[in-house]
Amino acid sequence: MSRSAHPAGPRHADVFPEGHYTAPADDLNALDEKVWARTVERDARGVVRVGGIEVTRLAEEFGTPAYFLDEADFRARCRAWADAFGTEADVFYAGKAFLSRAIVRWLKEEGLNLDVCSGGELTTALDAGMPAERIAFHGNNKSESEIRRAVEIGVGRIVLDSFQEIARVAHIAQELGKRQRVQIRVTVGVEAHTHEFIATAHEDQKFGIALAGGQAAEAVRRALKLDGLELIGIHSHIGSQIFDMAGFEVSARRVVQLLAEVRDEHGVELPEIDLGGGLGIAYTPEDDPREPQDIAKALTEIVTRECEAARLRTPRISVEPGRAIVGPTAFTLYEVGTVKPLEGLRTYVSVDGGMSDNIRTALYDAEYSVALVSRRSDAEPMLVRVVGKHCESGDIVVRDAFLPADTAPGDLLAVPATGAYCRSMASNYNHALRPPVVAVKDGAARVIVRRETEEDLLRLDVG
Ligand code: LLP
Repeated sequence: MSRSAHPAGPRHADVFPEGHYTAPADDLNALDEKVWARTVERDARGVVRVGGIEVTRLAEEFGTPAYFLDEADFRARCRAWADAFGTEADVFYAGKAFLSRAIVRWLKEEGLNLDVCSGGELTTALDAGMPAERIAFHGNNKSESEIRRAVEIGVGRIVLDSFQEIARVAHIAQELGKRQRVQIRVTVGVEAHTHEFIATAHEDQKFGIALAGGQAAEAVRRALKLDGLELIGIHSHIGSQIFDMAGFEVSARRVVQLLAEVRDEHGVELPEIDLGGGLGIAYTPEDDPREPQDIAKALTEIVTRECEAARLRTPRISVEPGRAIVGPTAFTLYEVGTVKPLEGLRTYVSVDGGMSDNIRTALYDAEYSVALVSRRSDAEPMLVRVVGKHCESGDIVVRDAFLPADTAPGDLLAVPATGAYCRSMASNYNHALRPPVVAVKDGAARVIVRRETEEDLLRLDVG
């Protein structure tokens, strides 16, 4: 359906109330490749497929809500990141975005390393066979037992986040008769242009040790003195869902400056810097993410340039993308339960999931797009809010979007770009059962994380 086919249709901005949305797409059946996983397409009958399988079949076999992950896309993105950074740099996938045994195996096969930030993520990584030396251990308050385990098994690096932790890791390593490779996480004082809750390099927040006031230099001084630690470098993560490279540039420049100070004071050139993750993805067609090659080129150039200026050997760079790898590879499939038009406002479309499978809209005001995927429709666009089934008015999945006006109970909707921080932040609110993650590839679908059951809920309830 083209815009001109409906000259008098309600496509004019003044017909719709205020909102975050732009005008409806010319064709609501079109699937913008920016936001959909690579193998997603609408077939001749109008049904959307992923990995060659119709969503209607997937819904029948696996139920809804469910996350469907395009394995080929995931692997391709891993390779794109690995190739872009080449042998001169290391890519650590940030497991917090989404982690499961299958994911770990794929990462291993595609040559990526893994960043974990809890004992649970570490267990998953080890269980699926990730070699300890390819694991980086993060977190602002790792427990003693987490640290002990990480040192015992020989993780490739622990990223130290506070003065207490410098002493704690050194002490544990010494007790175990080991020398642990560590990086110090610094806060570079960059205000990343993203939501407050996911910006991490300004000074007034909990992560890292500030460069300002000589704190980070003092941390380096202490770490270098401790026998249990081998200080291999400096780490900086400035935030998440960032499109503008300027923040990374400032961060790299300031980290290199610290390396130069360390060289001047201690005669030591630290061999590595880690610039963290945080690269943005497209949640709606308005977002314009960068390609891994671009990012690698920009980061390598700035580090090389700054090091030349400071007469430092260029350190080995590492990065930690999570969302940029897994985010675009999955969508959530929901079934419509009710459709409630509110005169002069919008239509509320309730689906069978909600804030328990995607908290990001409620938590960060995140924007998503949505499509009717079980059939084609040439009905007029209607302004909708896609909401869940939880007892809470903030239970919004997609705040403002357009769906065909004939969207009805029983239709399947899909919300793209839900691979990152959706299943991993899912909850049992209202005793919802967390949805499965189903990997789809070459006409085959298999559950990689199964749906929770009521037995699972009751198993923990031992009162
Ligand atoms: N490295 C470190 C040290 C991190 O803290 C994070 C994310 C990453 C890497 C990966 O960032 P990514 O490339 O995935 O943006 N739950 C939020 C994001 C919090 C991210 C926390 N740390 C969200 O749903 O947007």
